[in-house]
Parts: sequence; structure tokens; C-alpha cells
Amino acid sequence: MKIIVVAGARPNFIKIAPLVREFKRSNFSDFLIVHTGQHYDYEMSKVFFDELELQEPDYFLNVGSGTHAEQTAKVMIEFEKVCFQEKPDITIVVGDVNSTLACTIVAKKFNIKVAHVEAGLRSRDMTMPEEINRIVTDSISDFLFVSEKSGVDNLKKEGKGDNQIFFVGNIMIDTLYYQLNKLNKNNSEKISVKEKYGIVTLHRPSNVDIKETCQGIIEALIEISKDIPIIFPVHPRTKNNLESFGLMILIEQSNIKLLPPLPYMEFLELWKDAEIVFTDSGGIQEETTALGVPCFTIRENTERPVTIIDGTNTLVGTQKEMILNEYLKFKKGYSKKGRIPECWDGKTARRIVHLLLKEYAV
Ligand code: UD1
Repeated sequence: MKIIVVAGARPNFIKIAPLVREFKRSNFSDFLIVHTGQHYDYEMSKVFFDELELQEPDYFLNVGSGTHAEQTAKVMIEFEKVCFQEKPDITIVVGDVNSTLACTIVAKKFNIKVAHVEAGLRSRDMTMPEEINRIVTDSISDFLFVSEKSGVDNLKKEGKGDNQIFFVGNIMIDTLYYQLNKLNKNNSEKISVKEKYGIVTLHRPSNVDIKETCQGIIEALIEISKDIPIIFPVHPRTKNNLESFGLMILIEQSNIKLLPPLPYMEFLELWKDAEIVFTDSGGIQEETTALGVPCFTIRENTERPVTIIDGTNTLVGTQKEMILNEYLKFKKGYSKKGRIPECWDGKTARRIVHLLLKEYAV
């Protein structure tokens, strides 16, 4: 049996690393890594492969940026060549980025089985490109590996059978525990300095592409930074927009410190000790829940409700006043304790690989 594992963007590399490690642990060697090149900058790609101990990809498709149609189409054209050449039995796709969608469509048209890791999440917000990617990917995938129970319910409502849905837990948390362990070993000598700070990440088009929305969020963060210094590693899309909206000057005069996109370990080292994290990322909502760090999600909805029900996540919307109100409550001590959701135990990749290899063991 031959398996292709696809990754394209930063959060994907984090999700494929435990799978690759588990293949090796199971002495399964007939797998290939395809990197679509959706993210290509050093900070967005190569450094992640190094830190996550991922081997060089077998194929690099070099698709780069573009409109959604351009990027998706380029991945499809290049990935079709790989499928034609390699004829795998299974393609594993992860997450909800354009590369996930593109490779799923191509593989299915080759009658290759598709396994989707992080299936079933739904924000019900069709203006989000990721929601479209998730719905289309799940609708034609064969194995649906689900990270939280809401995903199982969503897939059942969409007519998926029990024999396709596998609640396996959250693979991002496999990487988190593995890397945290390495970090703790390396840092055992260090004495940590306990100055309070907050972290922010922003990259969703709905937050950073529209000037009014972006400005409101930045003004709220500047206000909060008068209370607690804020560190802001800036995604390239966000950086471009902050510059063109003239918001960089406001930030530079504030108590917000801008950094380039950070490697996984450097970022982990920062956020794990943060007083509070502000984000519009999907993965960070989950990671903060796993480590019990308070998280304010700057969005109107989340496809990861377990982080709110069980975890430390609060949806604060995208309006300046709402963000500031929620921060005020937090400052007064209304902070969620949270608990770790079911099966977020670092063994998700083990469950997935076991299921896949068992399914094909003849
Ligand atoms: C993508 C995913 C998003 C994910 C995010 C994580 C889609 C639809 N979106 O968003 O779900 O949360 O990755 O980071 O797939 N750029 C660079 N260098 C790079 C990559 C991108 O400078 O290595 C810039 C380009 O200007 C590009 C922009 O960032 O136009 C956006 O990149 P793109 O991959 O299209 O989407 P993301 O916003 O990163």
C-alpha cells in the first residue's frame, strides 16, 4: 500500500509531523510527502520542517500565492501529475486550506481513497474560504478523522455513515505535547522571567482585508497594550494591509511589539507563558485550550466549539467595544479555567495510522 501525505500551509506542517513519526514507528515506509508550496517563505515553511523533524518533501509543487482560483487550480494541475506518477492507494489531507481542497478533488478523480484529518468542523460561515474547503473536502472523503465531538454530529447530519467517521482526537495537540517536551528538556536550566504580556496573531481576510474592521481591532489592542505589553508576530498578509491602511504608525507608537512570523518553537515558548492570547487562528484556539492559557478569539464564530465549552477560549467578536468589554471582564478576574477535551492526549496520529493500516492489512 502506498500513501501520499499532503501539506501546503503552516498549520498543515504541524498536523502531518505526528503522522510521519507514527508511520516510522510502525515500520511503514511506503509513504511520500507532497508540499504544495502554498506557503513558501522560510518563516512560513522550511523552518517548520526542520523544527518538526520532517524530512524533505518528496515533491515540492511550488504553487505560491494567487487568488483562490489560481492557487487551487495550480495545486490541482501539479498534484494530478504526482498522482499519475505515483498511483497511491490513499491520500491524506489535513485541515482546511486551499491545498487540502485541491488535492482531495484530484485524488478522488483518480479513484484514490482520501483520508481527511480534522474532518467535520463547521463554522456555518460561508464567507470563510476555509468553510467551503471543509465542506467540499468532507463531502467526498472516504475516511473522516475527527478532532472534537461536534465534528461527529456535523458529519452525521450531513449524511455520513458511522463506518466513515472516526473520532480520534486532535493531531495538533500531538505536536504540541511532543515539542513542549523537547522545549522543557532544553530549558530545564533556564530561570524564567515572569513579566506579564499578551500575544496577538491575526491573518483572516475578514479581519485584516477591510480597513474599518482591521482598524477597530488594532485600536482595541493598542488600548489593551496600555495595560499589558503585547507581542504581535505578523503574518505577511496582515503586514501588507497594516502598511497600506496606514496603521503601522499607530502600532509603532504603542506598547505593541511587532515581530516577523515565528518558528513553531519560538512561538510556543512565547504563548505558553502569556497572560492572554488574542487570535483569529483556528489552531491557536485549540493549543491554548490544551495548555490552559486564556484565549480571546477575534471572530464572530468558531468551528471549534469545544474550545469554548470545555476550554479557555472566549469569542469576543471583531468590534472594538466588544473586545475591550471582554478584556475588562478578564481583568476583573472572570477567566475560564477550562479542561482538556476528550482524546486530546497526544495519541491521535497513533489512532489514525492504526486505523488506516488495519483497514488495508490483508
Ligand atoms: C492560509 C489558509 C488559512 C490558514 C493560514 C495559516 C487558505 C484559504 N487559507 O491563509 O486557512 O489559517 O494559511 O497561515 O488556504 N504569503 C507570503 N509568504 C508565504 C505565504 C503567503 O508572503 O510563504 C503572503 C502572500 O502575500 C499571500 C498571502 O500571504 O498572498 C496569503 O497567503 P495564502 O496562502 O493565500 O493564505 P493565508 O492568508 O496564509
